[in-house]
Amino acid sequence: MCGIIGCTGVKCASEILYKGLEDLEYRGYDSAGIAVLEGGKIISVKKQGRVCALKRAAEQLGGTSGIGHTRWATHGRPSDENAHPHTYGAFSVVHNGIIENYAKLKEELIEEGHEFSSHTDSEVVVHLLAKYYSGDLKEAVLSAVRQLKGSFALCILCAGYEGFVAVKYRNPIIVGVGEGALFAASDMPALCGLAESVAVLKDGQIAFASEGKISLCDFYGRPAALTLSPIPPAARGARLGGFPHYMIKEINEIPAAVKNTVQAFAEEKCFSALSRAAKKRGGFGDIVLCGCGTAYHSALAAAYHAEELLKIPSRAETAGEFRYRNSATGPKTLFIAVSQSGETVDTVEAARAAKEAGAYVVAVTNVPYSALTGIAYMSVPVRAGTEVCVAATKSYCGQIAALALIIASLKGGSAYSRTLSALKGIEAGCAAAISDCAVESAARACASSAGVYFIGRGIDYPVALEGSLKLKEVSYVPGEGYPAGELKHGTIALIDGGTLTIAIMTERTLGEKTASAVEQIYSRGGRAGVVYAEGCAPPELLERAEFAVKVPSFASCLSPIISVIPLQLIAYRTAVILGRDPDKPRNLAKSVTVE
Ligand code: F6R
Repeated sequence: MCGIIGCTGVKCASEILYKGLEDLEYRGYDSAGIAVLEGGKIISVKKQGRVCALKRAAEQLGGTSGIGHTRWATHGRPSDENAHPHTYGAFSVVHNGIIENYAKLKEELIEEGHEFSSHTDSEVVVHLLAKYYSGDLKEAVLSAVRQLKGSFALCILCAGYEGFVAVKYRNPIIVGVGEGALFAASDMPALCGLAESVAVLKDGQIAFASEGKISLCDFYGRPAALTLSPIPPAARGARLGGFPHYMIKEINEIPAAVKNTVQAFAEEKCFSALSRAAKKRGGFGDIVLCGCGTAYHSALAAAYHAEELLKIPSRAETAGEFRYRNSATGPKTLFIAVSQSGETVDTVEAARAAKEAGAYVVAVTNVPYSALTGIAYMSVPVRAGTEVCVAATKSYCGQIAALALIIASLKGGSAYSRTLSALKGIEAGCAAAISDCAVESAARACASSAGVYFIGRGIDYPVALEGSLKLKEVSYVPGEGYPAGELKHGTIALIDGGTLTIAIMTERTLGEKTASAVEQIYSRGGRAGVVYAEGCAPPELLERAEFAVKVPSFASCLSPIISVIPLQLIAYRTAVILGRDPDKPRNLAKSVTVE
């Protein structure tokens, strides 16, 4: 959600910044901009649209220090004027986050004679810097940041200061040291190939990067130690490698994502850490699983499984709801925060709130150096590798595997070994689902439908939600995910010949029940297709269905890993048929670091 980058001590700052923005583009692609220092003066270019729209203008620049930004609009529509950097007086600023008190600050600054040129919240930062600057950069930065409320990662350029300043408060920023050069970026992959060692800034830290040295201090100027470490291998970026899109590449990486996640669980000794934590608390009284979007769907699947296996009250909540309500979370609660990025602000803040309420907080994330891991008592890694496509695919499957292992560890003994041996076969099951699932007719049906409803019962219901989300976000075909029994309580009013329903049926005991829901759809002139496992759908239903996609059978706690694959493939193919870009759907960004 907005990517920012800074560099100093390089041969051509604009070249480095442009390349870095390409790596950060998954964080937002509404507009992009770069500012560099040339001969002590700030020169800036910015353009509405994707990073490539900036290429020609960026090629005209040089500089040895600079900052860059790729935007996901929050305040102010996507436009050239609202693009960052914002430049005023001696300063240029790029911002990721939201300045919550911007309206009041802006009003005061306008009264003092400042002229604004954008509709963004971010522009107040550059005006505050200009207001407080009288030759002492550090004083100006300290005075400005202390005025700000909300969340902000900033990179600042100041005319005459050969370097940049990076600020972190509730949005991520990482500083890096390379050969004779210094860098900062919102995420590690943008620093790969540039920096040899890196440090993740903590909330309330400011880094002054100049003349080969980074000095850290807090918002009151008190110095802090900088601890650099080598770039972790998990931070390596990804390349398409012959695939037409990252989405299909990442679906093909599901078998490896699951295998590596299972391996990481053993390597990081998560079984014993969880058993110790449960023992220390005298057992857990309830389990709350939290996440947003796709991560919420994997949390929901795990909550179903946890309650069934552990017989402990277990529920999943969207993080944005959890953090603002007074739940009964306490010291007997096991709170599991699920997030691919580990940076989603609602999930991070929900985990913080649960920790403050005394819960034992576990992070399940694909990014080991993320904010979420910093809050949690314990991290259970998802090792899906860098996920570039905005729509989550392989990380969802890794999350389901990690969550199944957590739940089995809490049960202990034979449950854990059973889950482990079921997971041994899942890699081959995923590979089979990817190569064998014929989804073309399903995708064509989706592409020509006015709406697509996904239904399922039991463990198939969270998968229905995920199938629906995937289709909507990459193809823009409207629809919903529903518990199969719920459709008739209202939404069935929308069913007609123009709508399509996809029933997910991997629960042997629930096949007949879901089949009844499909019959009700046929009776209203609706069309239906099925994603099913052997023995879970009545033969008459399969014969009548517009399409029937078969997936390998697996234990219920793991079946979402497999049954989601045809749904991801259907979403992907539908997007391609309709000419959408599945990797960068409109209005979205991968890391949602604002509320
Ligand atoms: C959907 C998708 C989003 C994310 C959500 C949470 O394909 O990718 O719904 O799942 O924004 O992101 P993380 O998992 O990074 O917290």
